[in-house]
Amino acid sequence: MKISNSIVLVTGANRGIGLAIVAKALEKKAAKVYATYRSDSNRTTLENLGERVIPVHLDLGDKSTITQLSQLVPSINILINNAGIFSGTNVLEDTEQQLRDDIETNLFGTLGVTKALLPSLKKEGSGAIANVLSVTSLAAMPSFGGYSASKAALHSVTQSIRSNLKANEISVHGVYPGPVATRMTKGLNMDTTPASEVAEAILNGIENGVEEIFPDAMSQQIGPLYLSSPKQLEQNFAAF
Ligand SMILES: NC(=O)c1ccc[n+]([C@@H]2O[C@H](COP(=O)([O-])OP(=O)(O)OC[C@H]3O[C@@H](n4cnc5c(N)ncnc54)[C@H](OP(=O)(O)O)[C@@H]3O)[C@@H](O)[C@H]2O)c1
Repeated sequence: MKISNSIVLVTGANRGIGLAIVAKALEKKAAKVYATYRSDSNRTTLENLGERVIPVHLDLGDKSTITQLSQLVPSINILINNAGIFSGTNVLEDTEQQLRDDIETNLFGTLGVTKALLPSLKKEGSGAIANVLSVTSLAAMPSFGGYSASKAALHSVTQSIRSNLKANEISVHGVYPGPVATRMTKGLNMDTTPASEVAEAILNGIENGVEEIFPDAMSQQIGPLYLSSPKQLEQNFAAF
């Protein structure tokens, strides 16, 4: 699926990886980029990117904004589910609410957006969906236990959607980044990759039909390790 001349929608587009994806999609000559924001204070960031960018309000925690999407966005070629949160730390010590928050946003919010936009994607005859997951989808990092659980569940949902949509010629891509330099990793003692590099790798992966996209140096080591020895990966991540 080529980015050039395509209509793309990116969730969580006002900062971090989402904003970098919008910039790269414009560079790659997307015809139009719907860019979602949650807080009105972030709308101008997106308006300033030019006339090919259409800001759309979306709060994954507010079902009415998800339902409205299909009216606001009549047709798209590429949906990039990027919006996500990182709420819990330790599944044994967190409140149940923290775990529910991660799962509500990262799993149900993403699935809700996908279902709402399917008619707009199907209208085009072929398309692509990319879900921004995490290396923690493949094995848990115990310091981010709730987040890992939400991203593992979304990894499974991504596989289901891939199979469900094969007949519709909609390719479904899972993106498994390691640590990226955004607000989400602020204060964490980890080497990070710039969001612009990750965004470029995501769009290249979609263009090249790669189903599992490992968009940075760390994830490129983790991907093969997961495939050869999931147990070893679990043991490596146990220290985090
Ligand atoms: N950074 C990393 O190391 C890393 C690694 C692996 C995977 N990821 C994944 O990459 C994606 C982007 O993360 P990031 O690093 O760019 O984080 P970020 O800078 O914290 O950006 C998160 C984006 O998601 C939006 N968002 C959060 N909750 C939302 C909600 N309920 N409704 C609508 N939008 C919501 C935020 O909007 P507001 O500005 O309104 O909060 C923001 O635009 C996430 O799915 C994350 O899990 C990140």
